[in-house]
Amino acid sequence: MTLEELGSQARACNLCKLAATRKKVVFGEGNPQARLMFIGEGPGAREDATGEPFVGQAGKLLDQMLAAIKLKRGNRVYITNIVKCRPPNNRNPTLNEAKQCEPYLTRQIQLIKPKLIVALGKVAAQNLLQSDDSISSLRGKVHDYSGTPLIVTYHPAYLLRNPQDKARAWEDLCLAREVAALAITLHTSLIKSAVRDVLDR
Ligand code: URA
Repeated sequence: MTLEELGSQARACNLCKLAATRKKVVFGEGNPQARLMFIGEGPGAREDATGEPFVGQAGKLLDQMLAAIKLKRGNRVYITNIVKCRPPNNRNPTLNEAKQCEPYLTRQIQLIKPKLIVALGKVAAQNLLQSDDSISSLRGKVHDYSGTPLIVTYHPAYLLRNPQDKARAWEDLCLAREVAALAITLHTSLIKSAVRDVLDR
């Protein structure tokens, strides 16, 4: 199956009740051979209306975060979410909604084969890592998502409300840049020990 075929399947999905209230399915956007994949939690109102991820205020900040590490939407980057349909009133997706949507994300990751996944915020991090740990304990480490290195940073919407944490997000982006460079040649386990050495220094 191609990414396009998977997108068509997702656009016709009725597996959870978000299908009843969505305007558009927000499957994902970017380079199908992206090296970096950014994963948020779920579409908001603007994304629901346009069918594109991260197009509201949080999306503008995400674009700035990408620019800070010399990346651009569509250029070596793919952006998607844990759930592809908008949860009403921007609530967090439920466990069931995330579970029903998971096969789309898993397949997307298998098809794109990114060198690094960046989880944006608590909902994305906890779902991807099957963890209840806080974002502060998940940041600053290289995790393993089925053989792909994964790092965690703050959600851009959180950073808009808490600009004092932007410096920490910058540290995460620097880590992302280093891990992505290492991941082009090394296996995740070697990256973990290389990065641990750097972080321990
Ligand atoms: N927040 C998200 O998590 N994803 C989007 O696509 C937009 C806002």
